[in-house]
Amino acid sequence: MMKGVIVVDHPLVQHKLTLMRDKDAPTTDFRRLVSEVALLLAYEVTRDLPLETRRIETPLEVMDAPVLAGKKLCFVSILRAGSGILDGMLDLVPSARVGHIGLYRDPKTLKPVEYYLKVPDDLSERLTVVVDPMLATGNSAAAAVTRLKEAGAKAIKFVCLLSVPEGIEVMQRAHPDVEIFTAAIDRGLDDHGYIRPGLGDAGDRLFGTK
Ligand code: URA
Repeated sequence: MMKGVIVVDHPLVQHKLTLMRDKDAPTTDFRRLVSEVALLLAYEVTRDLPLETRRIETPLEVMDAPVLAGKKLCFVSILRAGSGILDGMLDLVPSARVGHIGLYRDPKTLKPVEYYLKVPDDLSERLTVVVDPMLATGNSAAAAVTRLKEAGAKAIKFVCLLSVPEGIEVMQRAHPDVEIFTAAIDRGLDDHGYIRPGLGDAGDRLFGTK
């Protein structure tokens, strides 16, 4: 196990991931599976949310029962594929705030350039969970986290479906404080920046654009 990386190796996650990797999985199945895996990843990423107690009355007696403490979560989707994993996460945490960050790669410098950023004002008071299905080169993920820190985010976690050692290294070098939650660490990147064996282009498969 790599330090700072949590591989969510639950059998249901692994099974669903295999169904998603299959090139013949139709868009509707792929989208549903992404949502289901996202919910299970959200379950893991929220494991250490702080609790406080609230006095309630059950039908039989009064008790001090645990509830989530303070302001909770902000999910931040890295456009466009990140949006495909928001739904499943919001099913589990409907009260979470949602931010979006859009980045494209400058063809000359090959560096990520921001074209959109919208996050809640109170980001600094929330656990910020950055979501992108594929942690490939790690450049966009690292750039997104840098911008979110500039926008006030303090406690940040990163969630993806698939990652590769190269991307994890880039993220960890830039942001050693950010834990990475992933359903699997694949072999590596090919010459076109695709994760191998991977699942192809997550955005295209989610939105049926290819
Ligand atoms: N983004 C994708 O959608 N797929 C990859 O394999 C790599 C980056």
